Amino acid sequence: MKATAKAHTNIALIKYWGKRNEALILPTNNSLSLTLDGFFTTTTVDFQENLTQDQFMLDNKPVKGDSHQRVTKFLDLIRGLAGKENLYATVHSKNDVPTAAGFASSASGFAALAAAGTKAIGLELDNPELSRLTRQGSGSASRSIYGGFAEWEMGNKEDGSDSFAVPIAPAGHWDVRVAAVVLSSTMKKVSSREGMKRTVETSAFYSGWIDSIPKDLVEIKDAIKTKDFEKTGSIAEANCLKMHATTLAANPPFTYWHDATMRVMQTVQHMREKGIPAYFTIDAGPNVKVLYLPEDEETVQQTLRNIPGVTDVILSKPGQGISYL
Ligand code: DP6
Repeated sequence: MKATAKAHTNIALIKYWGKRNEALILPTNNSLSLTLDGFFTTTTVDFQENLTQDQFMLDNKPVKGDSHQRVTKFLDLIRGLAGKENLYATVHSKNDVPTAAGFASSASGFAALAAAGTKAIGLELDNPELSRLTRQGSGSASRSIYGGFAEWEMGNKEDGSDSFAVPIAPAGHWDVRVAAVVLSSTMKKVSSREGMKRTVETSAFYSGWIDSIPKDLVEIKDAIKTKDFEKTGSIAEANCLKMHATTLAANPPFTYWHDATMRVMQTVQHMREKGIPAYFTIDAGPNVKVLYLPEDEETVQQTLRNIPGVTDVILSKPGQGISYL
């Protein structure tokens, strides 16, 4: 009972930042992302009758502790759905995401695990069902089921049955590019899970963040549909700044930005002043992702590489949704 699946990570243009139910991973707002072809996880799940517990190998190394625990808990959900509570698996994952550089691999990781695990155990889920399941591994992973642009609808039911992602536009709709800017000091101190929890519970700006989301979503979906790059980029950049502002008003306050993060942000704004449309977004860490158009690739890449503190720039196109190998 074995299957292999591949899933790409995604970058949120409208951020998911807060949970209303931590156990079920139900968000306080809708979010919208672009799936990236440059970063992916390939996972093989093999359920075997003779196993007495799950085994998890990441990049050929056995994983124990919290990460193993998270995988087992997620496989429990799959076993529950299939009615095969005592069937354990070996899980082999390979990350083509620079994890050490502080890039979130949980989105591609849980999407690939959900796809491979359900197929291996014999479940046939459609994409909304798969997204709903994936959400319970990591919220942002719910969007990686789809290629291109996807929106995670928060839903309002207590049981989370209406909280899953839907496709907005496929990868082929629009060739926008994303440069992932890797910085030298990258160890994040506050995980996204802990950071969003502290923000929901204590940030004086949290209600302002939530109130502003519906308008951002309506406008960015219109901009994506009409391929209005300036509008898409400026909404995404402003949404990112609002999310990060909530952390400054939390108690205790915190920020994910480092000095080099700010240098990248300022350089992107300078590029715009010189007529190159480029926009930044930042997740729960210091690294920056820059949105740009294909014709500006050389200039954007060179400019970003010259910033002190930047160790690498990884370019990506829109990526596909989950696939089975
Ligand atoms: C800032 O999906 O990593 O990247 O649901 O607790 O696993 P959990 O959190 P996670 O949070 C991602 C937060 C973000 C914004 C986003 O991707 O929308």
